[in-house]
Amino acid sequence: MDMAKATSVSKTIEQMVTHSEQPSSGFIVKETKFGSIESSPPLGPFPVIDMSLFSSQEHVGTELEKLKSSLSSAGCFQVVGHGMSDSFLDRVREVAVEFFQLPAEEKQKHARAVNEIEGYGSDLVVSDAQVFDWCHRLFLRVFPVHRRRLNLWPQHPPEFSEILNEYAMKLKTVTEVLSKAIAKSLNLEEYSFLNQFGDQALMQVRFNFYPPCSRPDLVHGVKPHTDRSGITILLQDREVEGLQIRVDGKWYRVPVIPHALVVNLGDQMQIMTNGIYKSPMHRVVTNTEKLRISIAAFTEPEPENEIGPVDQLIDEQRPKLYRNVRNYGAINYECYQKGLVALDTVRA
Ligand code: OGA
Ligand code: NI
Repeated sequence: MDMAKATSVSKTIEQMVTHSEQPSSGFIVKETKFGSIESSPPLGPFPVIDMSLFSSQEHVGTELEKLKSSLSSAGCFQVVGHGMSDSFLDRVREVAVEFFQLPAEEKQKHARAVNEIEGYGSDLVVSDAQVFDWCHRLFLRVFPVHRRRLNLWPQHPPEFSEILNEYAMKLKTVTEVLSKAIAKSLNLEEYSFLNQFGDQALMQVRFNFYPPCSRPDLVHGVKPHTDRSGITILLQDREVEGLQIRVDGKWYRVPVIPHALVVNLGDQMQIMTNGIYKSPMHRVVTNTEKLRISIAAFTEPEPENEIGPVDQLIDEQRPKLYRNVRNYGAINYECYQKGLVALDTVRA
């Protein structure tokens, strides 16, 4: 697709979302391989885990059991006791809203390049047949620190960068604590996954803005996908639902718990756990009344690191399901463009 067409698509989205008109054909989902777009499937079986109990002799066993049962089925749970105050999480949401409310020209100063995902914009255009998501995003790499592209970080609101930096540092700790707990829940040494992530693990944060849509039955906020990450931590909108996760072929809503974080595994943890833990398929639906924002943080191993199923999780009953790979991000991206399921292409 040429530059002019790509630019005009992004303009259309910007206009569309401001006027909340009937979605144009580029957004309308014609074929739903994974079931129709329903706004109210049942609430899912996603437990709430209290991370502060990981250090309690008495309760840690119960929390690790919840972790184990949810990750081997749904691949998703919510966490409280993560150490971030309610007011801090609200502040993170606030700076995101303030950024999205800026005039289009102001946001465009941080626009992503046509062929890159980092920066502000909407879907990368990869084919003429593509159906667009009803969403704007600001996508920024936060770790490793020396790879931040600060020219893409908003200057307005003025505290944006400081808040994002603080949030990223806190998420890094949460991700580390969780990956140790995930290892323990499988009776592994606590660094079994962190060693594969490496010291220079990548963390990217995506601020998602979903405008209301007059026909939520026809569009996806985000189309069904699995995350390419190792671990994803999502701060949902305080009030508005929209995220759905597929478990055993059925869609379930993820409830809003205002100051909990939603955790889901990505493909690279499915590889490292030899398929024992799941990277769930998920999607976002829109609604007619309210805009929704969410902030997703994706942590994944250093791309140069070779990752693979942990040895202790391979045996005769459970042979090695995936081969060792490097730079899964690139594999995943290529598969996305060709419409292939990335995990299927790295089977042993
Ligand atoms: C994502 C994603 C869910 C949400 O950004 O990969 O799945 O609720 N977001 O916005
Ligand atoms: Ni996702």
